[in-house]
Amino acid sequence: MTSLVEATPHSASAFRIERDGDLGILWFDLPGEKINKFSSAVMTEFAGVVDELERDGGIKRIIVASGKPSIFIAGADVTEFSKATSAEQAREYTRFGQQTIHRFSKLSQVTVAAINGAALGGGCELALACDYRVMSDGPKAQIGLPETKLGIYPAWGGVTRLPRLIGLPAALDIILNGKTLDGKRAKKIGLVDEVVPASILLDIAHQFAAKPKRAGIERGLAREVDEVVPLIVGSTSSSTSGSTNGSTAGSDVAQNLIRLFFLMEDSKKERIAAASLEVRDGGVLGAGIMGGGIAQLIADKTDASVRMRDINWKAIAGGMKAAAKIWKKKVDRRRMTRVEMQRKLARITSTIDWSGFERCDLVIEAVVENVEIKRQVLHEFEAIAKPGAIFATNTSTIPITDIAAQAAKPENVAGMHFFNPVDRMPLVEVIRGAKTSEVAMATVANFARKLGKTVVYCNDGPGFVVNRILGPYMNEAGFLLEEGNTIESLDKAMVDFGMPMGPMALLDEVGIDVAAKVAKILSAAFGARMEPSHVVDALYTDGRYGKKNGKGLYLYEAGKRLGPDGSVYKLLGIRSTHPADAAAVVERMIFAMVNEAAMILYEKIVASPAELDLAMIMGTGFPPFRGGLLRYADKLGLPYILARLDDLAQKHGKRFLATAALRKLAERDGKFYR
Ligand SMILES: NC(=O)c1ccc[n+]([C@@H]2O[C@H](COP(=O)([O-])OP(=O)(O)OC[C@H]3O[C@@H](n4cnc5c(N)ncnc54)[C@H](O)[C@@H]3O)[C@@H](O)[C@H]2O)c1
Repeated sequence: MTSLVEATPHSASAFRIERDGDLGILWFDLPGEKINKFSSAVMTEFAGVVDELERDGGIKRIIVASGKPSIFIAGADVTEFSKATSAEQAREYTRFGQQTIHRFSKLSQVTVAAINGAALGGGCELALACDYRVMSDGPKAQIGLPETKLGIYPAWGGVTRLPRLIGLPAALDIILNGKTLDGKRAKKIGLVDEVVPASILLDIAHQFAAKPKRAGIERGLAREVDEVVPLIVGSTSSSTSGSTNGSTAGSDVAQNLIRLFFLMEDSKKERIAAASLEVRDGGVLGAGIMGGGIAQLIADKTDASVRMRDINWKAIAGGMKAAAKIWKKKVDRRRMTRVEMQRKLARITSTIDWSGFERCDLVIEAVVENVEIKRQVLHEFEAIAKPGAIFATNTSTIPITDIAAQAAKPENVAGMHFFNPVDRMPLVEVIRGAKTSEVAMATVANFARKLGKTVVYCNDGPGFVVNRILGPYMNEAGFLLEEGNTIESLDKAMVDFGMPMGPMALLDEVGIDVAAKVAKILSAAFGARMEPSHVVDALYTDGRYGKKNGKGLYLYEAGKRLGPDGSVYKLLGIRSTHPADAAAVVERMIFAMVNEAAMILYEKIVASPAELDLAMIMGTGFPPFRGGLLRYADKLGLPYILARLDDLAQKHGKRFLATAALRKLAERDGKFYR
C-alpha cells in the first residue's frame, strides 16, 4: 500500500525559522502557492521542524506566522482525501497530522500563533495547539473549523482542544455548524487571546511570547488517535465517501457529537407541564465558594435582584470577593468594562440577618453540607418567606427529602445542584424530593436555564447522579495510588482517555475536605461499593485540603499547580512507586462508574441513559467524543464489562461486585441504549 504520508515531497521548503536571540519565528510560506495548506508532504516537513524544535535548546519561544498576505493556514489539503484509496490510508494521513500537532503542543517552548488571515481547519487546530493566539482584526482574518461542511471531522485536536478552551456548548456550535469567526468574535468567546491591527500583530505576538508557558488546556489525546479519524459524510467525492465507509470509529465520533448537540437542545425544552414562576427577587444562603459563585451568576445573567446571607461579615466579604474575581477575569480579558463590573457587583446586596428575604421568589441554599444546619436554615426561611417562595438546595449529596423532612411546605423545596466552579461548569441537576411540586421543579429548572446552564432532572437519592457516579471513580483512584501507582501517571491515564483533568488533580481542585465529607455520606449510603480507600482521610488529617490551601497531592505556588508532591507517598506509607498501566487504570475507574450508573438508571434517579450521559459530560467533562459513559459501555459490550467486573471483584474485593442492574442487562446481552 502506498502511504499518503510518504507522498511526493515538494522540493522547496515550506518552513523557515528566523532566529532572534532565543526567539524563533516559524514562517510558513508554501512555495508556488497562494495559500498555506497542510498536504501530507507539508505535514511531513512540519514533523521535521518539530523534531528540530524538540532538540533545539537555544530557542525558548516560538511565534508561528504566515508568509502569505491574508492566509494564516487554510487547513488540510482536502484534495488528498480523494486520493486516498482506502479508509486505512485516510486514517494514516489523519493520524500522522494528529500526532505531529500533538507533539508540537508538547514542545517545551512558549508558542504563539500570529494569525494574520484565515486559520481554518488544520490551521485553526495548529493555533489551538499553541499556548497563545493573537489575531488580526482585518476582515480576512477568520478562525474556525468549517470542515464539517465538507463532511470532515476536525481530527487534529480540534474536537478535543476546542471544548477545553472555550467550553463544550460554544465548541459544539463551531464544530457542528462548521462556523468561522472573525477576530472580535473569536476573542469574545475566548478562542484567541488578543485582536489587534495587522500592522502590530507580530509586535503583540512578541509580547505574548514573553509570557510563561500555559498549563491551561491539558493535552492528552494521543491514546485514542484511531477514534478520531476523518469522517466523510455525504458525497463530497464519490471515491472518498466510498473509501471511508469502513471508518466506523470516525462515524462514532461524529454521531456522538451530533447526538450530544440534540440532547443539549432537548434539555432546553420544558417537559414539565406546570408553569414556572417568575423570579424577580433571588436569594442566596451561604457566601462560601458556591454561594459567592451563584450570586455572581444571578447578577451576571438575569435581571433578578440578589440578596446574599451568611452568618458573619467576614464570610460575606469572602463571597463578594469570589464574585468579583470572576468578573475581574472578564475585565482583564477585556470582555467587560470595569464600570460594568462595578454595576453588576453592586446588584448583590448582603446581610447577616433575614432582612430582604421576605421578598424572595426563590432562594438557593449553599450553606455547609450538614443536614441539621440545612434544616435549621430552611426552618428560619419558612418563618419569613412569602407564600409560594421556593427553597432550592445546592447540597451535593444529601437527599432533598431529608432536608425537607420537617418543612412546613416540603412541596416548595427542590434540589438545585451546581458544580464547582459555578461560572464555568455547565450542568445543574434539578432534583425532585418526595414532596416537591411540579411548579417548584419547573421554576428551578427554568431559572437554571436563564443562568445559562444545562438542566438534567433527577429523582432523589444520596449523591443524585453525577456525584454518586464519581464516588467509585474517585475511590478507585485512591486504591490505585495506595498500590504505588504514581500521581502523575494516574492523571495522565485519564487525561489520555479524554477527561479534562486526572482524578488526583480533580481531588485537589474539588477540595480534599469536601471529598472526605462526600465519601463518608456515599459509603454510609451504598456500603461496600463505595468503601473509600485511606487516601482521602489520610490527606485530610494531614491538613491537606488541595488547591484551596496550597497543600494536596500536588505542590502549589501562588495558587498554581506545580508537580506532584512526593511527600504524599511517605504519608500514605507507600514504599515504592511505579508508573501506572494506563489501560488497567481506565478499566478499573470507568467500569466502577458504569456499574453504579446501571443502578442509578434502574432506580430511575434519572429518566434515560441519554440524560445520564449528558449529565456526566456536562458535570465532569466526560469526553464528549465518546458519547458519554453509557454509550462507551455499550460500545465495549455489557457482557464484556460484566466479565471484567467479576474478575476485578475476585482480585480487588467486593467493591467491584456487579450491581444487580448491570448483571441483568449484561446477561440478557442488553445495552443501556435501546
Ligand atoms: N465546593 C464544591 O465543590 C461544591 C459543589 C457543589 C455543591 N456544593 C455544596 O454547596 C454547599 C456549600 O458548599 P461550599 O463549598 O460553598 O461551602 P463553604 O464552606 O465554602 O461555604 C459555606 C458557607 O455557609 C455559611 N453558613 C453556615 N451556616 C450558615 C447559616 N446558618 N446561614 C447562612 N450561611 C451559613 C458559612 O459561613 C460559609 O460561608 C454545600 O452543601 C456543598 O455540599 C459544594
